[in-house]
This record gives sequence, structure tokens and C-alpha cells, in this order.
Amino acid sequence: MFQKLLVASLLFLGIQFVNAVPNATAYCDSTSGICYQGYTDPTLDITVGLTFPPVSTDGGANSTAFIAEIVAPVTYGWTGITVGGSMAYSLLFVLWPYEGEVILSPRWTTGYTQPTPYYGPIITMLPGTSVNSTSITASFLCENCTYWEGGAIGGGDLEGTQLIEYVANNDTEVFDPANYASNFTIHDVYGSFELNLADAHFSDFFSLL
Ligand code: HEM
Repeated sequence: MFQKLLVASLLFLGIQFVNAVPNATAYCDSTSGICYQGYTDPTLDITVGLTFPPVSTDGGANSTAFIAEIVAPVTYGWTGITVGGSMAYSLLFVLWPYEGEVILSPRWTTGYTQPTPYYGPIITMLPGTSVNSTSITASFLCENCTYWEGGAIGGGDLEGTQLIEYVANNDTEVFDPANYASNFTIHDVYGSFELNLADAHFSDFFSLL
């Protein structure tokens, strides 16, 4: 009996270990000087990093901005992230290459259906945004982005935690690559990591922009 319980417990622990969601870690971009909390998926070769301005210390409203960096293989048809921990009712960002340029498209949807363009985020593309022979990189300032219709990052607590998920279609181009509002087919790869927002506030946030 004890042996059976032990085996069952070890199996349970093993499964837990295999399924554990990785935590974001700190890294800095040597060119821009911007420091992120992020994660690189070793299998999918996707990197996602996020960084936020310091939280308000005088009781005033917090900034609604963050900077995000998304890097993916240039061969993927499209790559996307959700900053709300789900596909539905969340702020999504989708990117793909088009004639050597990066198309970045904020999206939103109510279910497992084609997400459509979402208006609200004010996006400024930052240096580092590029397409080369191996990868596509989007680096952008996103204002009006910490909350959206149906949700907020960290559930509204900018020092809480947030599951960041990324998806991609690794072989099929979007239908109309020149158009940021293009439809596309469903993702075929998925990954996620846990972002501790308390660690993701960068004191030089505004001075480096
Ligand atoms: C035509 C476009 C899309 C379709 C038809 C679609 C459909 C689906 C379906 C059916 C699932 C459930 C899969 C399962 O449980 O096995 C799912 C999950 C998911 N999708 Fe999509 N998707 C689309 C685009 C996107 C985009 C653009 C993003 C993000 C940028 C995204 C993010 C996610 C995430 C994070 C999940 C897993 C978490 C969850 O269930 O909410 N999807 N999608």
C-alpha cells in the first residue's frame, strides 16, 4: 500500500514538474538599454519580454503603458501573444513580416474565433523592430494598454502576477500580409510563462524612450 502511494505521489510530482509554467527572468537589450522580464521558448524560438514604468508612489493613477518585445522565427506565418492569460476578452498582439517590415496588430475577440483589430492601444514602434533572414522582432511602446474591454493585466494589480501566453502558426501566411487587419488561420503552437509584475517595473522606463 505504502509503495503504491509512493509511486502515485512520485508520478504526481513528476507530472507537476513537466507541466510547470516557467517564470520570467530579467534581461536587458544591449542596444536600447531597455530591461525586460521575459522568457525565451527553447523549442519554438519565441522570446517575449515586457517592462513597465515604476508604479505611482504618491497615490496617483498608475501609467497605463508598457514596452513589449516579441521575437520569433521569420518563417512563422504569424506569431501572437496575449497579455491577459487567455484568448478571449484579452488584449492580443499579432505580428508577421511583410516585405522586410514588421506588421503589428492589436486584436481582441470574445471566443475561439478570428480576433479582429482592437482600437485603444496607442502603439509606437521602437528601434530594434526589424526583420532579418532568421527572425522578426517587434519592440513597441504600448500606451492605454494595461486594461481593455473585459480585463486588465495582473487582474488590475500592477504588482501581481500574470500568465503570458504566446501562439503562432508556424507555416501558414496570413491571408493578406500587407493589411494589418488581415484574417489568418488558427495557431498550431503554444507556450506560456508566469510574469511577476512586481519585478517588471523599470526605473529608466521613460528616460530611455
Ligand atoms: C483564426 C484565429 C484563431 C482561432 C480560430 C483560434 C482558436 C482557438 C481555439 C479553438 C483554442 C482552444 C484550443 C484548445 O483548447 O485546445 C484556442 C486557444 C488559445 N488561443 Fe486561439 N485562435 C485564434 C487566434 C489566436 C490569437 C491571435 C491568439 C493570441 C494572439 C490566440 C491565443 C490563444 C491562447 C493563448 C489560447 C489558449 C488559452 C485559452 O484557451 O484561452 N489565439 N484558440
